[in-house]
Amino acid sequence: MKNIARYTVTAALPYANGPVHIGHLAGVYIPADIYVRYLRLRGKDVIYVCGSDEHGVPITLKARQEGIKPQDVVDKYNKIIKDSFQKFGISFDIYSRTTNKTHYETASEFFKKLYNQGDFIQKTTEQYYDEEVKQFLADRYIVGTCPHCHNENAYGDQCEKCGTSLNATDLINPHSMVSGSKPVLKATSHWYLPLEKYDSFLRKWILEDHKEWKSNVYGQCKSWLDQGLQPRAVSRDLDWGVPVPVEGATGKVLYVWFDAPIGYISATKELTKDWEKYWKSADTKLVHFIGKDNIVFHCIIFPAMLKAEGTFILPENVPANEFLNLEGDKISTSRNWAVWLHEYLIDFPGKEDVLRYTLCANAPETKDNDFTWKDFQARNNNELVAILGNFVNRTLVLTHKYFEGKVPTCNQLTDYDKQALAEIPIFKKNIEENIENFKFREALKSLMDFARLGNKYLADTEPWIVYKTDVERVKTILNISLQICLNLSAACEPFLPFTASKLKSFLNITEFGWNDIGIKTLADEHKINKPELLFAKIEDSEIEAQITKLQNTKLANEATNISLEAQKTNISFDDFCKMDIRIGKIIEAERVPKTKKLLKLTIDTGIDKRTVVSGIAEFHNPEKIVGKQVTILANLEPREIKGITSHGMILMAENAGGELVFVSPEKDVKQGSSVK
Ligand code: MF3
Ligand code: ZN
Repeated sequence: MKNIARYTVTAALPYANGPVHIGHLAGVYIPADIYVRYLRLRGKDVIYVCGSDEHGVPITLKARQEGIKPQDVVDKYNKIIKDSFQKFGISFDIYSRTTNKTHYETASEFFKKLYNQGDFIQKTTEQYYDEEVKQFLADRYIVGTCPHCHNENAYGDQCEKCGTSLNATDLINPHSMVSGSKPVLKATSHWYLPLEKYDSFLRKWILEDHKEWKSNVYGQCKSWLDQGLQPRAVSRDLDWGVPVPVEGATGKVLYVWFDAPIGYISATKELTKDWEKYWKSADTKLVHFIGKDNIVFHCIIFPAMLKAEGTFILPENVPANEFLNLEGDKISTSRNWAVWLHEYLIDFPGKEDVLRYTLCANAPETKDNDFTWKDFQARNNNELVAILGNFVNRTLVLTHKYFEGKVPTCNQLTDYDKQALAEIPIFKKNIEENIENFKFREALKSLMDFARLGNKYLADTEPWIVYKTDVERVKTILNISLQICLNLSAACEPFLPFTASKLKSFLNITEFGWNDIGIKTLADEHKINKPELLFAKIEDSEIEAQITKLQNTKLANEATNISLEAQKTNISFDDFCKMDIRIGKIIEAERVPKTKKLLKLTIDTGIDKRTVVSGIAEFHNPEKIVGKQVTILANLEPREIKGITSHGMILMAENAGGELVFVSPEKDVKQGSSVK
């Protein structure tokens, strides 16, 4: 292992098209924050770099949906994300954005250097183009019928019904998700990075030199390499992004996955004039914290870019996590199935560390994992309150009660005392090794075991009983307990920074670093402050409120999720005017014999009284609908249904339960009024 003089730690740049949720936190920002806080505590030279990823199609689409500019979208979410991270104690040295000037310059220069070196190839291909919005469509934004299973809502990159991965050109009857129109194929030219040229470099660098990477990361890399690398486009036809900085590239921008990782470098430039030593010195250890969907970009594509550029170091490790689920379901921004950080901070003020604790204890380090509110409550009440909080509180309260808040002298040590003290450096080493190997759950477990030791020490030595007979012994017991509290105040800092600073203020100390654990002690007679509770119990009602919130989300989703059809091809206004849609009134209704679904209705259309057969018998009782105003398509060609001629069609909509409901006027209108 090389000599490490400094660390550059990056956390995936979140897309600025939505707020941050617990999945992001557990997968990326909490582990990275623990790692960085630990290194700082050890006095290492480390920078923790992040920022908003503000380019890409998802942002332009969000802007379109909300009827605002892409810049407004990223301004809005950058602020929400940045504020919530800061309140949550994620200790970035810089939180930048990929829309600022330094980044445009850095990304452009990077591209130009590769371009001038001849590292790209240029290719012309045919891609789908939406003529209505005048935009090329990313595969994800085309829907059509899957050629394999005939699912009508397959995406251009994948059919979610049968799981097949597709090319947009495979879809039958493709539609643009942006405008609903039928896209056309149009030739377009782009620059590609020929990844296959980096195959042997990547194979050696990852498969041979980095066997220590997490097995999920190593395995994914191996499977990409074994499938054979292909040229990757590094530009797109879009009007949002870093313009391709060469002649003849009007209307083209850098592909978001080309510019975003360069954002780590731009952010470092913004942070310090000395940025080069964090990116170009062989004795710097570069570590990327990411989620599993980012592995290929950070382990294959970005390293190939860095290698091509030639002056940058490569990551030493990429400790990617798997995904966190929420109450058994995949977290989803679009379905609002998430616990949003900015909302948590409002719902649970002062409980930042409780979430940090739960998410680290359940981090999806080796496999997908589940967050539940019940577990959150149990971790708080049974671990933070009952073990760590209880131990610290009892120690401090007794010190005030018996010794006026002054650290009592440590007298003769028993074997049991010696044993307890001897555990301290063991916990320290255990936590260190686990953090350094990116095993944050294990490290946290060790921290809690450390607190458990303190708790057990107090329970076994029973100072509240011994005090009646042997005050000198109680001095020793509380001295030792206070030393454990002191050591805990440093040991918990990477995981529970708010708790660490409270504990330090209770103990009335400022300087106590990682390297002091097991070594420095509180001096005799040192005055400690009056403590408050470190953690408060979380009541059932608070948890129930969160569960209800999620249930409401489920209901709302079911209501909107009756698989929405893609928009149909446009029609002219004249086409619309050909339809005679009116308000009529049901004046008679009866079941059509020997059918389950059909009602024979007599409708007063204002111009006549006519028979209409309607397939609504499963949902509507004939007696109850007489007198109701409904919408009728009056000039639909008469049709024979079960021997009855139907003159028109009643318009119905389907609700969440699959029930057909009437489309009726908001207020009574005259029979026969046209709908237009
Ligand atoms: N925005 C991406 C995501 O959320 C991550 C970008 S990481 C970077 O998946 F390296 F490109 F910056
Ligand atoms: Zn399919």
